[in-house]
Amino acid sequence: MDKIEIIGGTPLEGKTFVSGSKNAALPILASCLLIDGKIKLNNLPLLSDINSMLQLLNHLKVYTNKKGQDLMVESFYAKERIAPYELVRKMRASFLVLGPLLARYGEAKVSLPGGCAIGARPVDIHLDGLEKMGVEFSIRDGYVFGDVKSGLIGADIMLPFPSVGATENLIMSATLANGNTTIKNAAQEPEISDLAKFLNKAGAKISGYGTNKIKIKGVQKLHGICYTVMPDRIEAGTFALAVLGCSGNILLKNLNREVVMHLKKIFGEIDELNISSSNNYKQARVTVKSMNKRPVKLRTEIYPGFPTDLQAQLTAAFTISNGESEITETIFENRFMHVQELLRMGAKITQVGPRVKIIGQKKIYGAEVMATDLRASSSLIIAGMMAKGRTLVNRIYHLDRGYENLEQKLSTCCAKIKRM
Ligand code: UD1
Repeated sequence: MDKIEIIGGTPLEGKTFVSGSKNAALPILASCLLIDGKIKLNNLPLLSDINSMLQLLNHLKVYTNKKGQDLMVESFYAKERIAPYELVRKMRASFLVLGPLLARYGEAKVSLPGGCAIGARPVDIHLDGLEKMGVEFSIRDGYVFGDVKSGLIGADIMLPFPSVGATENLIMSATLANGNTTIKNAAQEPEISDLAKFLNKAGAKISGYGTNKIKIKGVQKLHGICYTVMPDRIEAGTFALAVLGCSGNILLKNLNREVVMHLKKIFGEIDELNISSSNNYKQARVTVKSMNKRPVKLRTEIYPGFPTDLQAQLTAAFTISNGESEITETIFENRFMHVQELLRMGAKITQVGPRVKIIGQKKIYGAEVMATDLRASSSLIIAGMMAKGRTLVNRIYHLDRGYENLEQKLSTCCAKIKRM
């Protein structure tokens, strides 16, 4: 099994490009099931989660042909309606094929995604919303069986929580439903806007995305298109937190306005971190003004708040600081798996319920540690680059799910990091 070795203590200097967004690409790929025609996607990140979704689409008889970051997709002959356990269990986002299969064929059998290291993550909000559109569900043998006899019907749906995945499943289903759908208390993440823009280009009629009230007018058919996936704001934020932890400055390339403005907003309270962008927002320079980091008090929130997907990296960056920081996790109930590993590196962190207190140290020290999930692995890499001595990060397959060649990108920015 691959490991990553890091010799810490070097400031980060250089430039790197930010890959396409994993969380935008996955629902866009699932939505290809809705489209009659050839689709070309550009700026797809090279990740194992993307490969998992492609495997699932291929199982569903969707033709795909990937060349680097570009992908051709054709779903003319798709007719398989079963998403099996062995493909869905690899990645929770596989559940996003449920809505498109129901919209296209009126029936689907999709494995329940099952447990996950960061929390229970049920799918009740997805199913309740789809029931409002006329789907009848039963759950047997670990599978969701969905049936909609006379086609999906547009509905008014109020989400109890703005779930990202449920909003996406419902948008995709409503696109080919009969009549109008309104999703209230919808998730507002830019990845949802990217999905809506992709579908609109293919002939869908979706408005209000980016707000908490999304309206969809059902259409009969969608057609093939060419689309470029948005940049990954979580990868960009991970680089920014790596610079905050290690000092130095990095030029991030391949960004857009929305991502740059988001980074400026979420890091607004961290005085030591400066983000300045080019006029067209395609590039941003991340610099650290002072290594004398003052502590922070932050909580993860739904968009546009501080993303839960950057909480582990933020925790790592503040293990060295000038005081006591407090970070509260409000989205997932068990997203502190990285803390035990950071303690092994000399960090001082205590957890009480959904909150951690980080007593900033002058130094942390390299150690052999184990990645437990995707964002925990990038937090350990940041900690390894901040630490004195050698760190070995095990179970690096978690990292490959969501970061494209992270160690190569960091080593071009002077980090002493290599895969073994
Ligand atoms: C997506 C992102 C993930 C990110 C998360 C929150 C993708 C592929 N993944 O995950 O990186 O961390 O948003 O920003 O885009 N919930 C329920 N019932 C449901 C659905 C969700 O209770 O039916 C709960 C979850 O357990 C969790 C919270 O809602 O506590 C947020 O989940 P959700 O927004 O659905 O996240 P995902 O779409 O799974």
